[in-house]
Amino acid sequence: MTTPIEISFIETDTGALENATGKLAVIVTPDGKLDAAARRVNRLTRGAVVRLAESEGWDKATPGDVVTLAFPAGLAAEALAVVKLARRPSVAEARKAGAELAKVKGDAVMTVAAGALPKAADLSLGLALRAYAFTDHKTEAAKSAGGATIMVSKPEEVAAEAAPMAAVAEGVFFTRDLVSEPANVLTTEDFAARLAAMGELGLEIEILEEADLEALGMRSLLAVGQGSESPSKVVVMQWKGGGDEAPLALVGKGVVFDTGGISLKPAAGMEDMTMDMGGAGVVAGVMRTLALRKAKANVVGLVGLVENMPDGRAQRPGDVVKSMKGDTIEVINTDAEGRLVLCDVMWYAQDRFQPRGMVDLATLTGAIIIGLGHENAGVFSNDDAFANGFLKAAEAEAEGAWRMPLGEAYDKQLKSNIADMKNVGGRPAGSITAAQFLKRFVKDETPWIHLDIAGVASVTSDTAFAPKGATGWGVRALDRFIRDGYEQA
Ligand code: BES
Ligand code: MN
Ligand code: ZN
Repeated sequence: MTTPIEISFIETDTGALENATGKLAVIVTPDGKLDAAARRVNRLTRGAVVRLAESEGWDKATPGDVVTLAFPAGLAAEALAVVKLARRPSVAEARKAGAELAKVKGDAVMTVAAGALPKAADLSLGLALRAYAFTDHKTEAAKSAGGATIMVSKPEEVAAEAAPMAAVAEGVFFTRDLVSEPANVLTTEDFAARLAAMGELGLEIEILEEADLEALGMRSLLAVGQGSESPSKVVVMQWKGGGDEAPLALVGKGVVFDTGGISLKPAAGMEDMTMDMGGAGVVAGVMRTLALRKAKANVVGLVGLVENMPDGRAQRPGDVVKSMKGDTIEVINTDAEGRLVLCDVMWYAQDRFQPRGMVDLATLTGAIIIGLGHENAGVFSNDDAFANGFLKAAEAEAEGAWRMPLGEAYDKQLKSNIADMKNVGGRPAGSITAAQFLKRFVKDETPWIHLDIAGVASVTSDTAFAPKGATGWGVRALDRFIRDGYEQA
């Protein structure tokens, strides 16, 4: 497992700056004001910091940007990073500064002189999140990354503020690792074992095996996995930190590999389908964060773990399956498998837990990438207040999320000649008809959000808080959603 770098907070010691090894960072305000540490470093470097702050390049930099001087005379450090940041930066600026510092840091150790910066904890979160690398399968990359020491005026206070943020970073890393892992490693068995291991954190973990799922009537989910050598599973993770309130339910699509099944996908790019368990990965990451920060809320996470393979036993186009709810589904396209998995897990979640609300996450449709690209996840909901609460949390965490419509007319596209519905609605509005399919398995009284994360779970270029690859999109937004709306004082 990839663990975030060690970050410690110590009292400012300007006398130690001269001999700090690795990378050293100081803060200068946009109008060129130096704090005590920056002044000290400026003296040691015979005025380099002030010259930098008076340069044209500094003017062009935006708050949170970092300008780096290599091998500065007068310092033991191999690089001096000068951070452009106001005395009272916004959360976004402080996190950005941390992320920019992570890029400068590399594998070296780093000392950050943050002084009295009120958002030093947020800076540490940005630093932790951006310093991710998935190196488990690189034989040479065994060397571990150095830690960061952040000098502040009130180390205990900042450390206390940063502790729940470190829990967020750990949850995000857990999600990213799961999404990054290839399918020959992250089988349904392996995935379930990693979730079972979270029992140590105080989560209650149950693994439902195929016989259990059969007994519950989850024929729709089981049909997706019946062509695979890996057994299908549903894992239930309960965090009980909120007394006797009804829980919030998080449901994730966990297709460990999606070949398309008999409706086989083309070869080009099929390797990307190792990330088709991204929804389940986010659910797992959020549950980990909640446990690590001992959230005062009741949340249950449920993931449907299956592999969609072509095989002599695989389901065929034209097959009719019965869902746990009792509705029958004509499987027109075996590649529209995510909804077949989710419908049974969502029904089970409501049947067993009567949740106050339910959020499902899935890398569900290619069509959402056509619609929203890699900037926003699609947000579908039957409840405006519930949806708005989530959108607000996502915005605060700078995780792109955009509301999409639902409606009767779209639902009609799912009409089947021989069963209660078919599993695809044709090319028009592919993401919406997928959401309409799921909506048929949402009880009227359940506030529900469906998040189509196909475009945001894994991306091909660097983003603000992650190198290219798995992003962990949604862990921060959902953690905040829970913190702001479901946690007891
Ligand atoms: N897992 C895919 C969706 C996907 C596509 C995720 C690209 C990430 C990147 C999903 O199971 C799928 O195959 N959807 C089909 C649905 C179609 C058959 C109605 C699609 O989007 O093409
Ligand atoms: Mn598919
Ligand atoms: Zn899929």
